[in-house]
Amino acid sequence: MQSDHTRRMFLKTAAAAGVGAAVAPWSAFARVPDSRIRVGLVGCGGRGTGAAAQALAADAGVVIWSMSDAFADRIEQSLQQLLGSEHKDRVEVPAERRHVGIGSIDALLPEVDVVLLCSPPGFRPEQLAKSVAAGKHIFCEKPVCLDGPGYRSVLESVRAARNKGLSLVSGFCWRSSSPERAMFEQIHAGTLGEVVGVHATYLTSPLGVRARQPDWSDLDFQLRNWQHFTWLSGDHLVEQAVHSVDKIHWAMGGRLPMRCIGMGSRFVHDPLPERGDVYDNFAVTYEYENGPRCVLMCRQQPDCYNINDDWINGTKGYGWVNGWGPTHWIKNYSGSLLWSYPKDGPAPNMYQVEHDTLFAAIRSGQPVNEGEWMANSCMMAIMGRMSAYTGQAITWEQATQSNEVLRPADLSGPLAVPPVPRPGRRAVSPTPSA
Ligand SMILES: NC(=O)c1ccc[n+]([C@@H]2O[C@H](COP(=O)([O-])OP(=O)(O)OC[C@H]3O[C@@H](n4cnc5c(N)ncnc54)[C@H](O)[C@@H]3O)[C@@H](O)[C@H]2O)c1
Repeated sequence: MQSDHTRRMFLKTAAAAGVGAAVAPWSAFARVPDSRIRVGLVGCGGRGTGAAAQALAADAGVVIWSMSDAFADRIEQSLQQLLGSEHKDRVEVPAERRHVGIGSIDALLPEVDVVLLCSPPGFRPEQLAKSVAAGKHIFCEKPVCLDGPGYRSVLESVRAARNKGLSLVSGFCWRSSSPERAMFEQIHAGTLGEVVGVHATYLTSPLGVRARQPDWSDLDFQLRNWQHFTWLSGDHLVEQAVHSVDKIHWAMGGRLPMRCIGMGSRFVHDPLPERGDVYDNFAVTYEYENGPRCVLMCRQQPDCYNINDDWINGTKGYGWVNGWGPTHWIKNYSGSLLWSYPKDGPAPNMYQVEHDTLFAAIRSGQPVNEGEWMANSCMMAIMGRMSAYTGQAITWEQATQSNEVLRPADLSGPLAVPPVPRPGRRAVSPTPSA
């Protein structure tokens, strides 16, 4: 194996010379076998394992070098999958580079050039800050923050990453989907006129739960069921339907809402501790200056109608995006087709495109940074959850300046299952006193 010094020099001089982008096509560099990029995976679950496989496929120099997870068994499962994959010869994670524990990113960071942040999002702002401080390029799964302090921390990290010339690619995968990109380009070009409203849905079935085992601590139990605990997931509006919130944000050209009114409840979920404190349905209206209104509905309930689509209304026409469909078209209000994405149009795997983008940026020395919109989309979802939980209208300022911290102060002792929030009874957190 190449020495660290030589490898680092390659990354440095390649970046400085802008090679890859200017001198040779990307594919030529993708074939260079000895220009290794050491990748560390933080959070070795389903998405993390997928992201590691996509990193391997993106660049022939990528080596999965180090892994971190709260649990040793998750690292072993992930490793077995990667060692059974096409690129197994570039999976080099001996026992000493398998780091276990919720703070184990600290041991991983000094060992790698790139990190894939794929743990439950309750840890993301802190992990992102540490990764940027350590000078690593980053793939960052959504959501990136779950509360106001997390949002502000992420924005600081995003700025610091830009100042350091680090690449930061977001896991908002629809932004890397060719049909969606084409559709939103049409919207921004004015094909349906000015956008006056969006109606987005993420209606789906409940996620699974894991029954408590005798040797689990309270923290183990909540981590194994992280999607069902708001301090770890942000609730399903922030964890899952944030994809739809992101498409609202995208359709609105990055404009931010002045205020939102949200509602939601836990109506169907069984009162099992495994189901934590999350709701099973939300509806949020986002209000924009000068009139536009965007509505999001999301649900995780069994045996109901499921759909995940977006209707975008403009002054000249309306568009339908259904990624699951897939359907992408724009019509005028007489029903005539103005634009559609061809059925046989290119549709590369959007998850792969994310990693192709990241590693091409690293090789070319032209960093990408998707940080601001990624943070703002998450903050819009957080704002909707705050409104639903409290039963109050919430302004963008209230949400972004909120001091509410979701994570329990002490994770080492007993951790009770928090009560399900009751609208009208939960206070909007105080804002900073300047
Ligand atoms: N973009 C997408 O379409 C998409 C799809 C699925 C999941 N996700 C996101 O990816 C992330 C992971 O989701 P998943 O489905 O892989 O969940 P998962 O439960 O399969 O994996 C999460 C892993 O993180 C580990 N973990 C917990 N705390 C940790 C810590 N402090 N440090 C390191 N590891 C820790 C868990 O033990 C688990 O192995 C979430 O943010 C989720 O929202 C995105």
